[in-house]
Amino acid sequence: MAQPVLKWAGGKRQLLDALYARFPESYDRYHEPFFGGGAVFFDLEPAAATVNDTNLRLVNFYEQVRDRPEALIDRLREFRDPEADPDPGLAFDSETRRGTAVEQYYYQQRARFNERAYAADWPEGDKDLLEEAALLLYLNRTCYNGLYRENSDGGFNVPIGRYADPDWVQAERIHAAARALEETTVHDEDFSYVLEAADPGDLVYFDPPYEPMSPTADFAEYSAAGFDRADQERLLAVASELDDRGVAVVLSNSGVTYDRYDEAGFFVEREGATRAINSDASARGEVDEIVATNVAPERRRGPDQAALDDY
Ligand SMILES: C[S@@+](CC[C@H](N)C(=O)[O-])C[C@H]1O[C@@H](n2cnc3c(N)ncnc32)[C@H](O)[C@@H]1O
Repeated sequence: MAQPVLKWAGGKRQLLDALYARFPESYDRYHEPFFGGGAVFFDLEPAAATVNDTNLRLVNFYEQVRDRPEALIDRLREFRDPEADPDPGLAFDSETRRGTAVEQYYYQQRARFNERAYAADWPEGDKDLLEEAALLLYLNRTCYNGLYRENSDGGFNVPIGRYADPDWVQAERIHAAARALEETTVHDEDFSYVLEAADPGDLVYFDPPYEPMSPTADFAEYSAAGFDRADQERLLAVASELDDRGVAVVLSNSGVTYDRYDEAGFFVEREGATRAINSDASARGEVDEIVATNVAPERRRGPDQAALDDY
Protein backbone atom coordinates (compact mmCIF):
# COMPACT_ATOMS: atom_id res chain seq x y z
CA MET A 1 0.00 0.00 0.00
CA ALA A 2 1.49 3.34 -1.07
CA GLN A 3 0.70 6.72 0.47
CA PRO A 4 0.16 10.17 -1.03
CA VAL A 5 3.45 12.03 -1.56
CA LEU A 6 1.93 15.52 -1.62
CA LYS A 7 -0.48 17.00 0.88
CA TRP A 8 -3.45 18.16 -1.18
CA ALA A 9 -6.69 19.95 -0.38
CA GLY A 10 -9.63 17.57 -0.53
CA GLY A 11 -7.48 14.50 0.28
CA LYS A 12 -9.72 11.48 0.58
CA ARG A 13 -8.01 9.33 3.18
CA GLN A 14 -10.89 9.62 5.66
CA LEU A 15 -13.42 8.55 3.06
CA LEU A 16 -11.59 5.44 1.81
CA ASP A 17 -13.81 2.86 3.52
CA ALA A 18 -17.00 4.58 2.40
CA LEU A 19 -15.71 4.66 -1.19
CA TYR A 20 -14.42 1.08 -1.25
CA ALA A 21 -17.77 -0.11 0.09
CA ARG A 22 -19.30 1.07 -3.23
CA PHE A 23 -16.60 -0.30 -5.53
CA PRO A 24 -17.61 -3.28 -7.69
CA GLU A 25 -16.30 -6.66 -6.59
CA SER A 26 -14.18 -6.81 -9.72
CA TYR A 27 -13.33 -4.44 -12.56
CA ASP A 28 -10.78 -4.14 -15.36
CA ARG A 29 -8.90 -0.82 -15.40
CA TYR A 30 -9.16 2.03 -12.88
CA HIS A 31 -9.41 5.73 -13.84
CA GLU A 32 -9.10 8.81 -11.62
CA PRO A 33 -9.85 12.02 -13.58
CA PHE A 34 -9.36 14.48 -10.66
CA PHE A 35 -6.14 13.12 -9.22
CA GLY A 36 -4.89 15.80 -6.76
CA GLY A 37 -2.95 13.99 -4.02
CA GLY A 38 -4.25 10.64 -5.28
CA ALA A 39 -5.18 9.27 -1.84
CA VAL A 40 -7.46 6.57 -3.29
CA PHE A 41 -5.13 5.55 -6.12
CA PHE A 42 -2.09 5.17 -3.87
CA ASP A 43 -4.02 3.18 -1.30
CA LEU A 44 -5.53 0.95 -3.98
CA GLU A 45 -2.44 0.51 -6.21
CA PRO A 46 -4.46 -0.63 -9.23
CA ALA A 47 -2.66 -2.90 -11.69
CA ALA A 48 -3.69 -0.87 -14.76
CA ALA A 49 -4.91 2.72 -14.59
CA THR A 50 -5.11 6.21 -16.02
CA VAL A 51 -5.00 9.32 -13.83
CA ASN A 52 -5.53 12.94 -14.77
CA ASP A 53 -5.43 16.51 -13.46
CA THR A 54 -5.56 19.94 -15.12
CA ASN A 55 -2.78 21.21 -12.84
CA LEU A 56 0.32 20.84 -15.06
CA ARG A 57 2.74 21.09 -12.16
CA LEU A 58 0.99 18.20 -10.48
CA VAL A 59 1.01 16.08 -13.63
CA ASN A 60 4.72 16.75 -14.17
CA PHE A 61 5.36 15.84 -10.54
CA TYR A 62 3.82 12.38 -10.90
CA GLU A 63 5.65 11.77 -14.18
CA GLN A 64 8.96 12.57 -12.49
CA VAL A 65 8.09 10.35 -9.50
CA ARG A 66 7.26 7.50 -11.88
CA ASP A 67 10.19 7.94 -14.29
CA ARG A 68 13.08 9.32 -12.17
CA PRO A 69 12.46 8.58 -8.50
CA GLU A 70 16.18 8.33 -7.59
CA ALA A 71 17.13 11.58 -9.32
CA LEU A 72 14.21 13.35 -7.66
CA ILE A 73 15.24 12.10 -4.20
CA ASP A 74 18.87 13.11 -4.82
CA ARG A 75 17.79 16.62 -5.82
CA LEU A 76 15.48 16.92 -2.80
CA ARG A 77 18.37 16.01 -0.48
CA GLU A 78 20.18 19.15 -1.68
CA PHE A 79 17.52 21.54 -0.36
CA ARG A 80 18.24 23.32 2.92
CA ASP A 81 16.30 24.21 6.03
CA PRO A 82 13.41 26.56 5.08
CA GLU A 83 14.46 29.09 7.73
CA ALA A 84 18.08 29.27 6.55
CA ASP A 85 19.42 32.27 4.63
CA PRO A 86 18.88 32.37 0.86
CA ASP A 87 21.48 30.51 -1.21
CA PRO A 88 23.54 33.14 -3.08
CA GLY A 89 24.38 30.55 -5.74
CA LEU A 90 20.77 30.29 -6.93
CA ALA A 91 18.89 32.67 -9.18
CA PHE A 92 15.98 34.86 -7.99
CA ASP A 93 17.46 35.31 -4.55
CA SER A 94 16.57 38.91 -3.85
CA GLU A 95 12.88 39.63 -4.61
CA THR A 96 9.58 37.85 -5.11
CA ARG A 97 7.55 38.47 -8.29
CA ARG A 98 5.70 41.13 -6.36
CA GLY A 99 8.89 42.93 -5.40
CA THR A 100 9.11 41.83 -1.74
CA ALA A 101 12.61 41.23 -0.42
CA VAL A 102 13.44 37.53 0.01
CA GLU A 103 15.17 36.98 3.34
CA GLN A 104 14.75 33.26 3.95
CA TYR A 105 15.63 30.17 1.97
CA TYR A 106 11.93 29.12 1.82
CA TYR A 107 10.90 32.39 0.15
CA GLN A 108 13.82 32.10 -2.25
CA GLN A 109 12.57 28.68 -3.40
CA ARG A 110 9.02 30.00 -3.65
CA ALA A 111 10.25 32.90 -5.78
CA ARG A 112 12.22 30.49 -8.01
CA PHE A 113 9.14 28.31 -8.39
CA ASN A 114 7.04 31.31 -9.36
CA GLU A 115 9.62 32.69 -11.77
CA ARG A 116 9.75 29.39 -13.60
CA ALA A 117 7.01 27.50 -15.23
CA TYR A 118 3.77 28.66 -16.71
CA ALA A 119 1.68 26.84 -19.24
CA ALA A 120 2.86 29.19 -22.00
CA ASP A 121 6.58 28.48 -21.54
CA TRP A 122 6.59 25.13 -19.80
CA PRO A 123 10.19 23.87 -19.58
CA GLU A 124 11.20 21.17 -22.03
CA GLY A 125 14.43 19.72 -20.68
CA ASP A 126 14.51 16.82 -18.22
CA LYS A 127 16.60 18.81 -15.76
CA ASP A 128 14.07 21.64 -15.63
CA LEU A 129 11.15 19.26 -15.24
CA LEU A 130 12.94 17.49 -12.39
CA GLU A 131 13.70 20.84 -10.71
CA GLU A 132 10.04 21.79 -11.07
CA ALA A 133 8.90 18.59 -9.36
CA ALA A 134 11.50 18.92 -6.58
CA LEU A 135 10.43 22.51 -5.87
CA LEU A 136 6.77 21.50 -5.70
CA LEU A 137 7.44 18.82 -3.07
CA TYR A 138 9.88 21.00 -1.11
CA LEU A 139 7.34 23.84 -0.89
CA ASN A 140 4.46 21.46 -0.20
CA ARG A 141 6.29 19.98 2.82
CA THR A 142 7.60 23.25 4.24
CA CYS A 143 4.74 25.70 3.54
CA TYR A 144 2.00 26.63 5.96
CA ASN A 145 -0.49 23.78 6.38
CA GLY A 146 0.71 21.91 3.26
CA LEU A 147 -1.67 23.97 1.20
CA TYR A 148 -1.45 24.48 -2.55
CA ARG A 149 -2.90 27.86 -3.41
CA GLU A 150 -2.31 30.18 -6.35
CA ASN A 151 -2.99 33.88 -6.94
CA SER A 152 -5.21 34.80 -9.84
CA ASP A 153 -1.99 35.16 -11.91
CA GLY A 154 -0.91 31.62 -11.09
CA GLY A 155 1.71 32.40 -8.41
CA PHE A 156 2.03 30.00 -5.48
CA ASN A 157 1.48 32.30 -2.49
CA VAL A 158 1.44 30.17 0.67
CA PRO A 159 3.71 31.45 3.50
CA ILE A 160 6.38 29.44 5.33
CA GLY A 161 5.13 26.76 7.77
CA ARG A 162 6.51 26.14 11.24
CA TYR A 163 7.56 22.52 11.54
CA ALA A 164 9.97 21.16 14.15
CA ASP A 165 11.54 18.75 11.69
CA PRO A 166 10.13 19.03 8.18
CA ASP A 167 10.84 16.08 5.87
CA TRP A 168 10.75 17.26 2.27
CA VAL A 169 12.67 14.28 0.90
CA GLN A 170 9.97 11.63 1.46
CA ALA A 171 12.17 8.91 -0.02
CA GLU A 172 10.02 5.94 1.02
CA ARG A 173 6.82 7.49 -0.22
CA ILE A 174 8.44 8.39 -3.55
CA HIS A 175 9.70 4.83 -4.04
CA ALA A 176 6.30 3.33 -3.21
CA ALA A 177 4.49 5.87 -5.40
CA ALA A 178 6.86 5.17 -8.31
CA ARG A 179 5.98 1.47 -8.11
CA ALA A 180 2.25 2.25 -7.91
CA LEU A 181 2.48 4.53 -10.97
CA GLU A 182 4.59 2.14 -13.06
CA GLU A 183 1.76 0.98 -15.36
CA THR A 184 -0.22 4.23 -15.16
CA THR A 185 -0.80 6.81 -17.89
CA VAL A 186 -0.86 10.36 -16.52
CA HIS A 187 -3.04 12.82 -18.50
CA ASP A 188 -3.21 16.61 -18.21
CA GLU A 189 -6.63 17.23 -19.69
CA ASP A 190 -10.16 18.06 -18.76
CA PHE A 191 -11.85 15.21 -16.83
CA SER A 192 -13.91 14.33 -19.94
CA TYR A 193 -10.80 12.52 -21.38
CA VAL A 194 -12.21 9.54 -19.50
CA LEU A 195 -14.94 9.10 -22.13
CA GLU A 196 -12.12 8.01 -24.47
CA ALA A 197 -10.05 6.18 -21.88
CA ALA A 198 -12.65 4.02 -20.10
CA ASP A 199 -14.06 0.77 -21.51
CA PRO A 200 -17.09 -1.21 -20.31
CA GLY A 201 -16.08 -3.14 -17.18
CA ASP A 202 -13.68 -0.41 -16.00
CA LEU A 203 -14.10 1.68 -12.83
CA VAL A 204 -13.95 5.49 -12.69
CA TYR A 205 -13.64 7.39 -9.38
CA PHE A 206 -14.48 11.11 -9.68
CA ASP A 207 -13.38 13.49 -6.93
CA PRO A 208 -14.07 16.94 -8.39
CA PRO A 209 -13.57 20.26 -6.63
CA TYR A 210 -16.72 20.22 -4.53
CA GLU A 211 -19.67 22.41 -5.42
CA PRO A 212 -19.90 25.13 -2.75
CA MET A 213 -22.42 24.41 0.01
CA SER A 214 -23.29 28.09 0.13
CA PRO A 215 -22.65 30.86 -2.41
CA THR A 216 -20.08 32.45 -0.08
CA ALA A 217 -17.92 29.34 0.47
CA ASP A 218 -14.60 29.65 -1.35
CA PHE A 219 -13.80 26.51 -3.27
CA ALA A 220 -11.55 28.14 -5.84
CA GLU A 221 -8.37 27.10 -4.00
CA TYR A 222 -7.29 24.21 -6.21
CA SER A 223 -5.97 26.23 -9.15
CA ALA A 224 -6.38 29.61 -10.74
CA ALA A 225 -8.87 28.14 -13.23
CA GLY A 226 -11.62 27.08 -10.79
CA PHE A 227 -14.53 24.73 -11.42
CA ASP A 228 -17.94 26.30 -11.87
CA ARG A 229 -21.57 25.22 -12.02
CA ALA A 230 -21.36 24.51 -15.76
CA ASP A 231 -18.41 22.15 -15.08
CA GLN A 232 -20.50 20.40 -12.42
CA GLU A 233 -23.24 19.87 -15.00
CA ARG A 234 -20.77 18.53 -17.58
CA LEU A 235 -19.51 16.15 -14.93
CA LEU A 236 -22.99 14.75 -14.30
CA ALA A 237 -23.43 14.30 -18.07
CA VAL A 238 -20.08 12.45 -18.35
CA ALA A 239 -20.92 10.21 -15.36
CA SER A 240 -24.33 9.40 -16.92
CA GLU A 241 -22.76 8.58 -20.28
CA LEU A 242 -20.25 6.22 -18.64
CA ASP A 243 -23.16 4.57 -16.83
CA ASP A 244 -24.99 4.04 -20.15
CA ARG A 245 -21.86 2.38 -21.55
CA GLY A 246 -21.43 -0.13 -18.73
CA VAL A 247 -18.56 1.60 -16.92
CA ALA A 248 -18.72 1.50 -13.09
CA VAL A 249 -18.76 5.02 -11.60
CA VAL A 250 -18.14 6.18 -8.01
CA LEU A 251 -18.20 9.91 -7.27
CA SER A 252 -17.85 12.12 -4.20
CA ASN A 253 -19.18 15.68 -4.01
CA SER A 254 -20.75 18.10 -1.57
CA GLY A 255 -24.25 17.53 -0.16
CA VAL A 256 -25.90 20.15 -2.40
CA THR A 257 -25.52 17.80 -5.38
CA TYR A 258 -27.56 14.98 -3.72
CA ASP A 259 -30.80 15.56 -5.63
CA ARG A 260 -29.12 15.92 -9.01
CA TYR A 261 -27.36 12.54 -8.79
CA ASP A 262 -30.45 10.93 -7.28
CA GLU A 263 -32.65 12.20 -10.11
CA ALA A 264 -30.11 10.99 -12.69
CA GLY A 265 -30.59 7.43 -11.32
CA PHE A 266 -27.43 7.01 -9.20
CA PHE A 267 -27.45 5.40 -5.74
CA VAL A 268 -26.62 8.35 -3.46
CA GLU A 269 -25.80 8.42 0.24
CA ARG A 270 -24.60 11.12 2.61
CA GLU A 271 -21.28 10.77 4.43
CA GLY A 272 -19.68 13.08 7.01
CA ALA A 273 -16.00 13.83 6.40
CA THR A 274 -13.48 15.87 8.31
CA ARG A 275 -11.53 18.10 5.98
CA ALA A 276 -7.85 17.25 6.25
CA ILE A 277 -6.74 20.69 5.18
CA ASN A 278 -8.64 23.77 6.12
CA SER A 279 -6.88 26.91 7.21
CA ASP A 280 -10.07 28.15 8.89
CA ALA A 281 -10.16 26.32 12.25
CA SER A 282 -13.89 26.91 12.72
CA ALA A 283 -14.58 25.03 9.49
CA ARG A 284 -12.56 21.95 10.45
CA GLY A 285 -15.64 20.00 11.55
CA GLU A 286 -17.85 17.64 9.61
CA VAL A 287 -18.99 18.68 6.17
CA ASP A 288 -21.97 17.40 4.31
CA GLU A 289 -20.70 15.11 1.59
CA ILE A 290 -22.25 12.54 -0.74
CA VAL A 291 -21.01 9.40 -2.44
CA ALA A 292 -22.90 8.52 -5.64
CA THR A 293 -22.49 5.33 -7.65
CA ASN A 294 -24.13 3.28 -10.36
CA VAL A 295 -22.83 0.04 -8.80
CA ALA A 296 -25.85 -1.91 -7.53
CA PRO A 297 -25.57 -3.11 -3.88
CA GLU A 298 -25.36 -6.80 -4.88
CA ARG A 299 -22.39 -6.09 -7.19
CA ARG A 300 -20.36 -4.25 -4.54
CA ARG A 301 -17.23 -5.36 -2.84
CA GLY A 302 -18.82 -4.36 0.52
CA PRO A 303 -17.24 -2.75 3.58
CA ASP A 304 -15.38 -5.71 5.08
CA GLN A 305 -14.76 -7.75 2.02
CA ALA A 306 -11.34 -7.65 0.41
CA ALA A 307 -11.19 -7.60 -3.38
CA LEU A 308 -10.55 -10.96 -5.06
CA ASP A 309 -7.20 -9.67 -6.33
CA ASP A 310 -6.00 -9.35 -2.72
CA TYR A 311 -5.64 -13.12 -2.44
C1 LIG B 1 -10.79 17.50 -4.80
S1 LIG B 1 -9.25 17.63 -5.68
C2 LIG B 1 -8.87 15.91 -5.76
C3 LIG B 1 -8.37 15.40 -4.43
C4 LIG B 1 -7.82 13.97 -4.50
N1 LIG B 1 -8.86 13.00 -4.66
C5 LIG B 1 -6.97 13.64 -3.28
O1 LIG B 1 -7.21 12.63 -2.61
O2 LIG B 1 -6.05 14.40 -3.00
C6 LIG B 1 -9.71 18.09 -7.29
C7 LIG B 1 -8.62 18.15 -8.37
O3 LIG B 1 -9.25 18.42 -9.63
C8 LIG B 1 -8.40 19.19 -10.45
N2 LIG B 1 -9.23 19.81 -11.50
C9 LIG B 1 -9.88 21.00 -11.48
N3 LIG B 1 -10.58 21.18 -12.62
C10 LIG B 1 -10.41 20.07 -13.38
C11 LIG B 1 -10.90 19.63 -14.66
N4 LIG B 1 -11.72 20.39 -15.40
N5 LIG B 1 -10.51 18.42 -15.12
C12 LIG B 1 -9.66 17.65 -14.39
N6 LIG B 1 -9.16 18.00 -13.18
C13 LIG B 1 -9.53 19.19 -12.67
C14 LIG B 1 -7.73 20.13 -9.48
O4 LIG B 1 -6.48 20.57 -9.99
C15 LIG B 1 -7.60 19.26 -8.20
O5 LIG B 1 -6.31 18.67 -8.11
